[in-house]
Amino acid sequence: MRAQLSADDVALLEAIAAQVGTPTYVYSADQIRARFQDFARALAPLDPLIAYAAKANSNIEIMRLLAGLGAGADIVSGGELRRAEVAGISPQRIVYSGVGKTTQELAAALDAELFQITLESLEEARELSSLAVAAGKAASAGLRVTPGIELSGGHQKISTGCTSTKFGIPLDEALSAWQEIHALPGIRLQGPAIHLGSQMLSLEPLRNGLELLDGFISLLKSEGFAMDTISVGGGLGVAYQTSDRAPPLHAYAELILSYASRWNARLILEPGRWLVAGAGRLLTRVIRVKQSAKKQFAILDAGMNDLMRPSLYDAWHEIAPVAIETGQSCVNYDLVGPICETSDIFGRDRPLPVLQSGDLVTIADTGAYASSMAGNYNSRGLAAEVLVENGRWRIVRRRQTLDDLLALESSL
Ligand SMILES: Cc1ncc(COP(=O)(O)O)c(C=O)c1O
Repeated sequence: MRAQLSADDVALLEAIAAQVGTPTYVYSADQIRARFQDFARALAPLDPLIAYAAKANSNIEIMRLLAGLGAGADIVSGGELRRAEVAGISPQRIVYSGVGKTTQELAAALDAELFQITLESLEEARELSSLAVAAGKAASAGLRVTPGIELSGGHQKISTGCTSTKFGIPLDEALSAWQEIHALPGIRLQGPAIHLGSQMLSLEPLRNGLELLDGFISLLKSEGFAMDTISVGGGLGVAYQTSDRAPPLHAYAELILSYASRWNARLILEPGRWLVAGAGRLLTRVIRVKQSAKKQFAILDAGMNDLMRPSLYDAWHEIAPVAIETGQSCVNYDLVGPICETSDIFGRDRPLPVLQSGDLVTIADTGAYASSMAGNYNSRGLAAEVLVENGRWRIVRRRQTLDDLLALESSL
């Protein structure tokens, strides 16, 4: 159980709910800053490019905050490129991954002269080469290789290092791919990249991945290829519940250091979740409590469209009322959203103090892969986002209105 909210926090959340409404994501700038600084300090001996994985939370103010601390960005779409530019991140600190970059997206990345476009297939490399030749440019590129490690992330759906994945090029095909791409005009192939998966709660898959990457690097060197960059991706996990044993930062850093210190190339790290997950809460109100002989449901005004992780990955998030009076008895609730799907459930049989309609509840650790994965299912507008800094708060994304939504449909 996380520490109970302080009286100041309760007052802050109540004020935000009263003025901004619910559901609202509430982020702590101080926590994000502290996480980034800890991360940067632990890896400092390697002077890496820390490219924040924007997909974890692509709010421009959060990206701007991280950029101000020295972060670059790991992006996966033209939309994230635009966000990184607006947040003031220099193109020379941006790496662009993703299996399905469109022609327009590749052209935009080329035009922006990004630090690295990480290629995920030979077909993509050939297309980038023709675009670069036509534009009279040379693209700095990386090549993502897939070491073939099963269940490298915290869930099968977020494991990306296995052989059957769509990502990257399998290690046993990577040398010939490297040779072909290296010979393509308009591409300056500068280094290999791996990303094994997200929410890694054990360092073993990463250790295995680094070992295999290390072997590939030696092979490339023995073939006479030089490398300027090496990316080891993101993936460091966080403890969503007390039984989660997330690897300590120092152990992760020591592991990376033990390999990267002999590579003699610029290390790229792409952390997302670890930097921002714990800095966010989803603030929501109980619409009503529904009782039956078997179950007590607390129906919240946040739905799976605001936080998909539980329905998508069976993910666990701590859920607690904002105001808890001492000595209250507990009831086991299923905490559900209002969406017409059985999977719209945030927690089952959670013992919580008696809830009533109108009570405020927070869903913890929703700074990563919550707002950035949100959608409009059931014609629900995107929730507002608030950033708290030095005890003051401001709206960093207003709530999407129904008019915003309907404006896109031409039949009106
Ligand atoms: C290529 C790449 N890099 C970095 C990340 C960030 O992962 P995480 O948020 O787990 O650190 C991802 C996420 O899946 C990714 O696909």
